[in-house]
Amino acid sequence: MYLTKDEERIYDGEMGWAYQVSMRILVKLGELYGARRLIPVESAHISGVSYKTVGDAAIDFLKALVESGGKVRVKATINPSGVDYNYAFFRALPEDLLERQREIIDLYEMMGVDAVLTCTPYYVEPPSCGAHVAWAESSAVVYANSIIGAWTNREGGPSALASALIGKTPDYGLHQPENRQPTILVRVEANLGSEADYGALGIHLGKILGDRIPLIQGLHGANETCLKQMGAAMATSGMTPMFHMNEYGAEHNKSLEKIAVEDRDLVRVYEELSTSDEKPDLVFIGCPHCSFDEIKLVSKLIEGRRIREDIRLWVCTSRFIRGKAEDYVRLIESAGGRVVCGTCAVVTWLKNFGIKTVMTNSAKTAYYVQLLDGVKASLSPISECINVACE
Ligand code: F3S
Repeated sequence: MYLTKDEERIYDGEMGWAYQVSMRILVKLGELYGARRLIPVESAHISGVSYKTVGDAAIDFLKALVESGGKVRVKATINPSGVDYNYAFFRALPEDLLERQREIIDLYEMMGVDAVLTCTPYYVEPPSCGAHVAWAESSAVVYANSIIGAWTNREGGPSALASALIGKTPDYGLHQPENRQPTILVRVEANLGSEADYGALGIHLGKILGDRIPLIQGLHGANETCLKQMGAAMATSGMTPMFHMNEYGAEHNKSLEKIAVEDRDLVRVYEELSTSDEKPDLVFIGCPHCSFDEIKLVSKLIEGRRIREDIRLWVCTSRFIRGKAEDYVRLIESAGGRVVCGTCAVVTWLKNFGIKTVMTNSAKTAYYVQLLDGVKASLSPISECINVACE
């Protein structure tokens, strides 16, 4: 891989260990995937923030970077943590979890990272269309590539952090136009209604596609929330980093391998993901973190009603969106719901809250809470989730 004189000096350690180890991570990745050079990135989004998922090894690594003077060189943001410190029920988590989580966030901030603590950083500040970025968080990667038109590989936490410190990424994969073309045509013949249906479609497609890029036809009338749910779910059960969509019959689609999706495929996903028909302990909306419009929708669905005493409602988003949607947040909270920021049902310690069953409109959450926390789940559209949560 070709390195400039400056990049070589960083590689050799002249700028200190933090930059050296970052450069070595990027060069290793580049060599592995056949990159010829590094290219500048506009921003980096880093996963690996919740202490629940990263543990003590991450703290040691972050500390070492800070101690050797590591500072980010481009705009860098981080994913949700395990705690919203503004709520007493989160502050009642064991002291050591709270302290270590705080330490992780502080260490990122010491390196100049913007602690937005959200998996939807594109609502805070979207990357430019056509910009090269280095983003981790699989749902944000699909969104950035497919909906915004930014260019990113599916980074891991360490490589996104390395890119933040160096300001560059190896030039391979989705940074090259020829690798962004669809390689399979998906005809959706199933009836799609709610955002949960789109999530179920995403889970089904992720399993079939692996890391292939689909051209999806038949997504008539899908809104932004539906596409966000579909993309997040595709990246949950598979490695797909982006999708294209258009209408049936476009000329250039003829040579692609074709698959069809039918109603029964979605029914199967609903059956797999819905392992409980009991009353849930938690109704969770906000995976990926809610947009302004989703917060508004939740408040409209709740208006004039109250959340049941025996069910918790969490609506998760970023502090940024919460601030913009103040009036709707007030309505949700006065009805007994909680608009939780900087965390989510998957990356916090659900069991510490005594939660055994979760009802959600997110296929990604329904998939992960069973896998990571061993709790039961059910997948339903947002309107049904709110109906169950309300008296
Ligand atoms: Fe975001 Fe948590 Fe879902 S980090 S994408 S809300 S699992």
